[in-house]
Amino acid sequence: MSDVAASTAPATLDVTAVRAQFPYLERPEGIVYLDSGASAQKPRPVLDAMYDFGGSHYANVHRGVHRLAVEADRGYDAARATIAAFVGSTPKETIVVKSVTEAINLVAQTWGATNVGEGDEIVITQMEHHANLVPWQQLAIRKGATLRYLEVDGEGRIDLGQLDGFLASGRVKLVAVAHVSNVLGTRNPVAEIVRRSHAARARVMVDGAQAVPQEPVDVTALGADFYGWTGHKLYGPTGIGVLHVRRDLLADMPPFLTGGDMINIVDFHETSWAGGIQRFEAGTPPIVEAVGLAAACDWVDSIGGPAAVLAHEESITAYALRRLAEVEGLRVVGPPEARDRGALTSFALDGLHPHDVAEILARNEVCVRAGQHCAEPLHRAIGIPATTRASFGVTTTREEIDALIDALAEARRIFS
Ligand SMILES: Cc1ncc(COP(=O)(O)O)c(C=O)c1O
Repeated sequence: MSDVAASTAPATLDVTAVRAQFPYLERPEGIVYLDSGASAQKPRPVLDAMYDFGGSHYANVHRGVHRLAVEADRGYDAARATIAAFVGSTPKETIVVKSVTEAINLVAQTWGATNVGEGDEIVITQMEHHANLVPWQQLAIRKGATLRYLEVDGEGRIDLGQLDGFLASGRVKLVAVAHVSNVLGTRNPVAEIVRRSHAARARVMVDGAQAVPQEPVDVTALGADFYGWTGHKLYGPTGIGVLHVRRDLLADMPPFLTGGDMINIVDFHETSWAGGIQRFEAGTPPIVEAVGLAAACDWVDSIGGPAAVLAHEESITAYALRRLAEVEGLRVVGPPEARDRGALTSFALDGLHPHDVAEILARNEVCVRAGQHCAEPLHRAIGIPATTRASFGVTTTREEIDALIDALAEARRIFS
């Protein structure tokens, strides 16, 4: 192979080397962690980066001139730049928040409060996580706007023809959609949704909570007005999320939380606001967490980058779909092909309650999630009260999928 070919070949994940970096895999029980969709485990380089920064370079940011304050400023600002670059954004369009839940609430309560009014329409899908449903529902109630739902078909997909139908009213102000569904796994055609929505003068909010950890994401290329994601699913810490907002929209958005750091001038009876992203970062930000999330972005790049993560997880998902199809009475929800979905499988087993299934799996150290996965309306729409979800990550192996299948067979034996 020539050097050029070698340098352009997609990197592949060395799963053995990756697994060696996760302390949870050193536990004696032989844990099979298939719950990355809920929250990912943390590799040592991320934990080390937080320990080092928190222990040796820490102070509050943007308010001190002493040595540690200067180092903390540098670390925090560099972290924002790394986080922005990881998804093709810029620091000036990257707001640090607590979670994607907070990111979506921020948009609803700032942009939404000033741009959505009586008689307007907001379009979301039936597959949304509560985080991308309840804020819009409540905004619609407050404003006298109408919330419309794109329906999910038998394979967990939405119909862009229905979106066009909604947009034709001319009253749609916002379309909010998950990039990848946390239950169905559906990968939504976000760039096309943005194109059609913009043509109808509607803004688009994308919930990227499940997409950013699983595939290359370029928020600038996607063109979404608002794109939110959350650190703890990308092998980073809890307590940090990210909201990317197109620069031209930031100027007209009123503040979200008010207090220190987000102001220009404060007097006893009035206050003027800081400009740009600073207006949306009131109080002490998650400093160590930002450094940890930047370390997670760098770490994902160091193991081959998001393209290698996608290739690995798509192959694992394809294998899981094949093996799950062998289990009698088991139905996986969502698109049938791995290439159309994210790295998770939610399923129902005839005659077995998902919590009982999860309990038997837990006895075998197979960690999954059971219930409605913060998507109660979706479960109602697909006519299944609850599901068991196995979700995959960079540490997942075929042997772990086999362990899942064996434990499912045991659940079937015990309860039949
Ligand atoms: C699609 C989706 N959106 C939003 C969230 C909420 O994430 P957080 O709790 O970090 O705000 C999740 C978490 O499970 C998710 O999967």
